[in-house]
Amino acid sequence: ILQLLFEMVTRRCIGFDSTKSRQLRDKFDALFSGLFSFPIYFPGTPFYRCMQARKNVQKILRDTLAERLSTPGKKHGDLLDVIVQELQGEGPLISESFAVDLVSTLLFSSVFTLSGIIAVAFKSLHDNPDVVHALQKENPAMLKDRKGGCSGLTWEEYKSLTFTNQVTNEIIRISNAVVGIFRRTLTDVQVNGYTIPAGWQVIVNPMAVHLNEELFEDPLKFNPWRWLDESKRSTMLKNFLPFGAGIRACPAAEFVKLFVTLTLHILVMEYRWEEIKGADAFRSADVMFPLGYHIRLRTQDDKIN
Ligand code: HEM
Repeated sequence: ILQLLFEMVTRRCIGFDSTKSRQLRDKFDALFSGLFSFPIYFPGTPFYRCMQARKNVQKILRDTLAERLSTPGKKHGDLLDVIVQELQGEGPLISESFAVDLVSTLLFSSVFTLSGIIAVAFKSLHDNPDVVHALQKENPAMLKDRKGGCSGLTWEEYKSLTFTNQVTNEIIRISNAVVGIFRRTLTDVQVNGYTIPAGWQVIVNPMAVHLNEELFEDPLKFNPWRWLDESKRSTMLKNFLPFGAGIRACPAAEFVKLFVTLTLHILVMEYRWEEIKGADAFRSADVMFPLGYHIRLRTQDDKIN
């Protein structure tokens, strides 16, 4: 899934073909593996490798941007076209180094979160056939009620998929794709009798909240129906912070929910799938599949032997 998404996003954002995308992905993999490491900047340490990978990613993106800036007339129909237009317009609001940072943040924050969440979705559905049955009831029923033929899914139809949207919430809650939300205290802050001094770095771990049994009953259980319980729903929603909070909250929060719900919709309407290998998952901060998670996906009319 990661490779598929990475190829799609690099094509749409920076016009890369599969080969170039693969090369960039290798650099991102190296960056990712040292992301949460002890910060010793010395050859051979994970942190050092991560910093080298970061430089390599930035170099590839800087070179790509420079190439595009030298041929501004040539359009590729991607995000870089828009960036080049901004940089070469009158009084650009961004600089070249900001553009490189922007693109690398976008590639990183979109692909490495969504791919994990979709893997957790497949695994959770596989382990909970009752959830699949409920999805298989709601989604065709919604399409049956549709007036006016087979258009794409409308916003109202998407919103009407109550259960499917609860499955989406539960997938997002259980997967905790982002392991830390970073803030700095501007003044002394009191929390549960402790003082966090001004200027300290604070890391909020969404998993600690999403798997807290006082807020989410039986928190390790994948249970989309929990979101139906009106008496607990508002407390759960108040403590549901997969996308952070405040002005730096994830700008893609609604897109992510739509993406997951649409994936579920298409999956149960058109496909069947089997687990092949890699069913062992463990949780450190987010959910990990040490051997990868492998499925065989087929259209519904393709017979399984
Ligand atoms: C499961 C999917 C995702 C999760 C759980 C997630 C979560 C987060 C979180 C927790 C933050 C930090 C928010 C804060 O500091 O309050 C963040 C920031 C960000 N996310 Fe996402 N994200 C996801 C997918 C995406 C996608 C698909 C994109 C892009 C298409 C994206 C783009 C960004 C960007 C650009 C920021 C930085 C915002 C800023 O600093 O102002 N995210 N995300």
